[in-house]
Amino acid sequence: MRELDTKNELHTQIQYRLIEKLTESERRHRELVENLREIVFECDYQGQLTFINKAWTETLGYPVQDSVSQPLDKFIHGPDAKVWQSVLRQQKDCCLELQFSHQQGDILCLELSIRFSPTAKPSGSLINITERKQAELILKQTNELLEDRVQKRTSELTQANQELTIALQKLQQTQGWLIQQEKMSSLGQLVAGVAHEINNPVNFIHGNLLHVQHYAQDLLGLVQKYQQYYPNPVSEISAEIDGIDFDFIQADLPKTLSSMQTGSDRIRQIVSSLRNFSRLDEAGSKAADLHEGIENTLVILNHRLTSDIEIVKHYGTLPLIDCHPAQLNQVFMNILTNALDALQAHAVTTPRITICTAAIAQQQVRIVISDNGPGIPAEIRDRIFDPFFTTKPVGDGTGLGLGICYQIVEKHQGQIQVKSSADQGTEFIITLPITLENAATLPA
Ligand SMILES: Nc1ncnc2c1ncn2[C@@H]1O[C@H](COP(=O)(O)OP(=O)(O)OP(=O)(O)O)[C@@H](O)[C@H]1O
Ligand SMILES: [Mg+2]
Repeated sequence: MRELDTKNELHTQIQYRLIEKLTESERRHRELVENLREIVFECDYQGQLTFINKAWTETLGYPVQDSVSQPLDKFIHGPDAKVWQSVLRQQKDCCLELQFSHQQGDILCLELSIRFSPTAKPSGSLINITERKQAELILKQTNELLEDRVQKRTSELTQANQELTIALQKLQQTQGWLIQQEKMSSLGQLVAGVAHEINNPVNFIHGNLLHVQHYAQDLLGLVQKYQQYYPNPVSEISAEIDGIDFDFIQADLPKTLSSMQTGSDRIRQIVSSLRNFSRLDEAGSKAADLHEGIENTLVILNHRLTSDIEIVKHYGTLPLIDCHPAQLNQVFMNILTNALDALQAHAVTTPRITICTAAIAQQQVRIVISDNGPGIPAEIRDRIFDPFFTTKPVGDGTGLGLGICYQIVEKHQGQIQVKSSADQGTEFIITLPITLENAATLPA
């Protein structure tokens, strides 16, 4: 009996100790949970809070005793309450961000983690991430602002780049224009100088030829008179007449003099063409005859017009054109030179250049210069007017000819077009107004 009593007492003591330890452990855990900065909560499957630690009040402002047994969604802000209800329905562990209303009215962003256990009520934690969210928002805004700035700056730079590219192109064109101007002006000066130098002596010859013709006629007449009245001269004179073949001289001298006349006329014509081509004596625009310009250019190019090259001219009736004749001559010169180059480089069997002119509607004239050369391949047709574009070997072509033509025609308020296909020849069509709208814009 005493033994039983002792056992019971021991048992009671063990139980007492166990309860003491359990109480101590629970107190420690409660204290641990209470001291956490995160909200720890427990609720039932309807979402009614059964436990919350004091971080609840620190975070959201509501007293713990007023909040326990309230549904959690009462504290959730706006449409997020529906998200919470769907979490409750699905009963799946998850972690998500929800907006809560603070007792003072502020909206806070809390990160909710919840666990659903088959043996216990759903429990979890709520961490205040409002500051992090705000920082993220500021970061996002700053990022967007930066991106905007970068984009703006990039587009500014792209635009500046485009402007620079255009400026560079213009500079290259101007440079090309200047080089060509210089070339043409030197050529013009040379041509004008040569023409001037030849002009005086040729006039000298031309002016005196007429006198020489008269003198020769007089002398021959005199000799004839001698022969008439003294048919039997002394033997020395007879020998001299036979020796110099007087009959032949008598017949040939007028012919020689007339061919000299033709030659000097031709030289005078060339000199006048050279002077007209260079037109150095004229400044600004004037009413000019385009046919004269084309003819003068052909004279300049005469050395390249070998007998096998046929030049076909279909000249219409053209009025005088408001233009800078020396510049339009450059256009004809460049196009005709290109045609000659193409015909010669490809050894065309019956080389032909055709020049057609006509007055057309809207007070305009059209000049078409075509050749039956190899044509311009489609892949380069768009580039032939670009300054420095050439298919000729280095040293043969600068690639400026057509670029200059384009600029001159444009400045004359006209258009230049090209029609060409491989093996079909090339056709340049120039359209010019008869009168210029504002002649002052024309380059000097
Ligand atoms: N009638 C033509 N037939 C075939 N190709 C042509 C003709 N006219 C122009 N081209 C092509 O167009 C290119 C550009 O011509 P452009 O007159 O501008 O320069 P280029 O003749 O090469 O050099 P340059 O500055 O000495 O005139 C030529 O290199 C040539 O390939
Ligand atoms: Mg050329």
